[in-house]
Amino acid sequence: MRVHIIGGGNLGVSIALGLSKFSPENQVTITRRNTSSILYLEKLGATVSTNNIHQIQEADVIILTIKPYQVDVVLDEILPVISNKIIASAVSGLSIENLQKKIGDLNSAVRIMPNIAAQFGASATCIAFHEKDKEKAQDVVSLFQSLGTAPIIDEKLMDAATVLAASGTAFALRYIRASMQAGIEIGFDWQTALAISAQTVKGAAEMLLEEKVHPEQLIDRVTTPQGCTIAGLNEMEMHGFSSSLIRGIKTSLKQIKG
Ligand SMILES: NC(=O)c1ccc[n+]([C@@H]2O[C@H](COP(=O)([O-])OP(=O)(O)OC[C@H]3O[C@@H](n4cnc5c(N)ncnc54)[C@H](OP(=O)(O)O)[C@@H]3O)[C@@H](O)[C@H]2O)c1
Repeated sequence: MRVHIIGGGNLGVSIALGLSKFSPENQVTITRRNTSSILYLEKLGATVSTNNIHQIQEADVIILTIKPYQVDVVLDEILPVISNKIIASAVSGLSIENLQKKIGDLNSAVRIMPNIAAQFGASATCIAFHEKDKEKAQDVVSLFQSLGTAPIIDEKLMDAATVLAASGTAFALRYIRASMQAGIEIGFDWQTALAISAQTVKGAAEMLLEEKVHPEQLIDRVTTPQGCTIAGLNEMEMHGFSSSLIRGIKTSLKQIKG
């Protein structure tokens, strides 16, 4: 496929990097107004341009990774030269209905919510589309399946997906940072504490994804009666470990919904 990414910032670049590594058969064009910081992508096979309509007619999928306030300017530029295109938008808060109104019936609107782990083929990209675009959206689904998992969700859960899958990256990193800080306090240098904390989280996540069980089932395997793990877990819960995370996620969701 020819993939045209408009908005070569944090997310756009992570998608371009992920595609170059995990599905190099796709041809990627990526644009932004100031390309100096992303020219290195050319060495990985992507075309980098300041021109949003450069080779856009040949694109199979156009991905929007721009900020909400940049959407109208970009669409004004590209719409006169495209038709029958799939436009996959990662723009938070932009509904399929509103995007479809903007792009007209000749193009298909798909909503995606990836995260920056796309760069490592490890994004959880939630995808939503209207029934009429089901077939065309499969291209987007398979593209993002090559960059991790790509669950199809009901659009009404897209804000929740933004919090769980995109903001969730920051939440998980904050857990790792806290674990690392504790690691330093109990004797490790920060590099070793970071390596152990990050790998432990990766291992826990891999077990869950592989075994498809509830986390408590795995926790049960780690918690010996009267042991150190259950003592630590109970102390954390006493100080609001789970409830602070749940409250944080719900606050992020409230913030999105405005
Ligand atoms: N970051 C994430 O983890 C994440 C996850 C899911 C969804 N999202 C959503 O994805 C969107 C992008 O987020 P981001 O974090 O990647 O933002 P970002 O780093 O600011 O990237 C946006 C990019 O768009 C470029 N841009 C602005 N106007 C443009 C134009 N007219 N034509 C072409 N490129 C233009 C900007 O570069 P120039 O100024 O050089 O043009 C910038 O590099 C947002 O809507 C965000 O909500 C982000």
